[in-house]
Amino acid sequence: MKVLVTGGAGYIGSHTCVELIEADYTPIVVDNLCNSSAKSLERVKEITGQDITFYQGDVCDEALLDAILSEHEVICAIHFAGLKAVGESVAMPLEYYRNNLLSTLTLCKVLGKHGVKKIVFSSSATVYSGDNEMPLRETSKTGNCTNPYGWTKYMGEQILRDIAKADGEWSVVNLRYFNPVGAHKSGLIGEHPNGIPNNLMPFISQTAIGKRHHLNVFGNDYPTHDGTGVRDYIHVVDLARGHVAAIKYLLSHTGEGVFNLGTGTGYSVLDMVKAFESANGVSVPYEIADRRPGDLATCYAEPAKSREVLGWQAQFDQNDMCRDSWNWQSKNPNGYDD
Ligand code: NAD
Ligand code: UFG
Repeated sequence: MKVLVTGGAGYIGSHTCVELIEADYTPIVVDNLCNSSAKSLERVKEITGQDITFYQGDVCDEALLDAILSEHEVICAIHFAGLKAVGESVAMPLEYYRNNLLSTLTLCKVLGKHGVKKIVFSSSATVYSGDNEMPLRETSKTGNCTNPYGWTKYMGEQILRDIAKADGEWSVVNLRYFNPVGAHKSGLIGEHPNGIPNNLMPFISQTAIGKRHHLNVFGNDYPTHDGTGVRDYIHVVDLARGHVAAIKYLLSHTGEGVFNLGTGTGYSVLDMVKAFESANGVSVPYEIADRRPGDLATCYAEPAKSREVLGWQAQFDQNDMCRDSWNWQSKNPNGYDD
C-alpha cells in the first residue's frame, strides 16, 4: 500500500519513511530539498533495505502532483512539507504563507481529483493559545499565534477541517506535535539544521561536540521548578510511529480527527542539559541569558486521546532521546554534509 509523503526527506519525514516501511507501507516521497538532503533517503534505504521512490519537486506544483498520483495508486498522503523556522517566518511572512498554505491547497486539490481523500497533516502545539492551563488537550483553546509560522499551521488545520465538513468522503487527521528530538538508533538519520540551530536539542548536541562554545539558556526566572522553560520532548521515532497509527485511523474513519503527539511529561532546559550529560558522559557548558521573546514558561500535552483512540503511546524516555541525539551527532558531526 503506497503512501504519498510530502517533505519525506526532512527530519520527521525520513524517520516516518522508516516506520512506514517497517509497517509494510510503501512511501512515495516528494520533496524540493529546500531544507534537507537526498542523502537522508539513501540512509533510509540502508536501514530498511528498501529503495524509496523519490520525486524532487515542489508540492505547490500541481502538474507534478497530478503526474505522481497518475503513476501511483496511493491510499493517503502525509503532508510534512513546509517551512518551519519561527524567526524566519517573522522576517519572511509572505514566503511562509505562500509555501505552507499553497502546498496544502494544491495537495488537497490533486488528492481530491484522484479520489484519494485521506490526509495526515503535520500540525504543531504552537496552534494552542498561550493562555491555556496545562496540560494541553485537543479541546484547549487555539489561536492567538505569536508568529506567521504558527498561523500557517492554524490555517492549515482549518482548511482541512473545512474540506472534511464540505465533503463527507474526506478523512483528515491533524497531528499536533510537541517537541521532537532524538534520532533513529542506527545513527544514520537525524536532524540536520542549517546554520545555528534555533531548537534546544541540536544546540545541546553541537555544544557537546564543540561546534558551539556554550548553550544560552533563555531565561531562568520562569515560574517552573528551576526557573527554565519546560517542554514536552518526544522521541522522533515515537512521533513517526504516531503517523502509522494515524493512517490506520484514517482508513476506517471520515471527518476530522485531531490528536496531540507528546509524552505528557515536561522537562526544563536544565533537566535536558543534565540528562544529556549523564546519558552520554559529555559536558554541556551553559550560560543563563535573557528570555527569548515569544517563549512560554511551560508547554506539555495531555496525550490520553491519542492513546485511547489511535492506540498510540510514546515508548522512549528522556535518556533514550539524549542518547540517540548524541549518537547521530557524534557519528555525523556535520549532518549529511559528512
Ligand atoms: P524539515 O525541514 O526537516 O522537513 C520539511 C521538509 O519539507 C524538508 O525536507 C523540505 O525540503 C520540504 N519542503 C518544504 N517546502 C516544500 C515544498 N513546497 N515542496 C516540497 N518540499 C518542501 O522539518 P521537520 O522537522 O521534519 O518538520 C516536518 C513538518 O512537521 C513541518 O511541516 C513542520 O512545520 C512540522 N513540525 C515540526 C516540528 C519540529 O519541531 N521539528 C514541530 C511541529 C511541527
Ligand atoms: N532554549 C534555550 N536555548 C536555546 C534554544 C532553546 O534555552 O538555544 C529553550 C527555549 O527557551 C525553550 C526550550 O529551550 O524553553 C525549547 O525551545 P525550542 O526552540 O527547542 O522549542 P520551542 O518549544 O520553542 O518550539 C518548538 C518548535 C516550534 C513548535 C513548538 C511546539 O521549534 O516550531 O516547538 O511544537 F511550534
